[in-house]
Amino acid sequence: MSLTRFNAGDAASPAGISATKVTVPALSEMRRQGKVISALTAYDYATARLADEAGIDSLLVGDSLAMVMLGHENTLAVTVDEMMHHTRAVRRAVRRALVVADMPFGSYHGAIAEGVANAVRFVKDAGAEAVKIEGPRFELVRAVTEAEIPVIGHLGLTPQSVHRMGGYRVQARNADAVRRLRADALALAEAGAGAIVLEGVPREAAAAITAELAVPTIGIGAGPDCDGQILVFHDLVNLTFAPAAKFVRRYGDAAGLFRSAIERYREDVEHRVFPADAESYHLSKAEREALRGEPVRDESGEDEVVNRDALQDWES
Ligand code: KIV
Repeated sequence: MSLTRFNAGDAASPAGISATKVTVPALSEMRRQGKVISALTAYDYATARLADEAGIDSLLVGDSLAMVMLGHENTLAVTVDEMMHHTRAVRRAVRRALVVADMPFGSYHGAIAEGVANAVRFVKDAGAEAVKIEGPRFELVRAVTEAEIPVIGHLGLTPQSVHRMGGYRVQARNADAVRRLRADALALAEAGAGAIVLEGVPREAAAAITAELAVPTIGIGAGPDCDGQILVFHDLVNLTFAPAAKFVRRYGDAAGLFRSAIERYREDVEHRVFPADAESYHLSKAEREALRGEPVRDESGEDEVVNRDALQDWES
């Protein structure tokens, strides 16, 4: 661990963003007031803190972390324990945003009681304030809600169904399929879902469902008419090592930034340009004399330690 102070300091709030904690009922209130909900995935302390400080309303610890953080081919391999580990990191970073944990594949596909028990773990042991559940699992959503845990539903392209769907395909592409999706969304809301993510569906389908539902919709690849939008953080900042999907807008180039910083660091190390003397700790003049057994003239005048705070940490 470096001596750099990592989590010191108070969170800043961007202008115009209320500091009030976002809750699941607050999402419905935002919809009522016509305020668009901003959501983003987050998997670690640093990015969750940045997103929270930037005023994002909800942070989803998505099972997409299996791919973007852990390098798996799809989302199926990630475990409850791994999801909990990342949820705890996000929880420690976030003050304002609603923290939602994604229930991973296999954690709610058996008995209802097992699904409820796993949802309880996310809240009790990892600090999640809601869980997200993929698919039209009405009985489970009702049971988790009755256990006092808010549920965010997820319909349309549900990545945990990749094998059943035969790939990541846009869903609800004809009128019958839109009607089925709408019926599922209404039934999920009736079962207690506090909001519903609509992923990979035609804009018209998402607009129609959004207009009919009593709870907010949060779209990803579902067009601009949803009550909110969510993107995967790594898509947003170009950290996916793959071409972006049609619905992704890149707002930054972290890959370019990181690549260049890492290359410059390597070159500086190889050329002995890093670290410089000013980036080194020094013995006091007296200690240098004692070490050498003879007095030395301090020519640099740099007996002072560059970063006193860091040295205190080092010494303690
Ligand atoms: O895991 C995830 O990132 C998600 C979002 C795409 C909604 O489920």
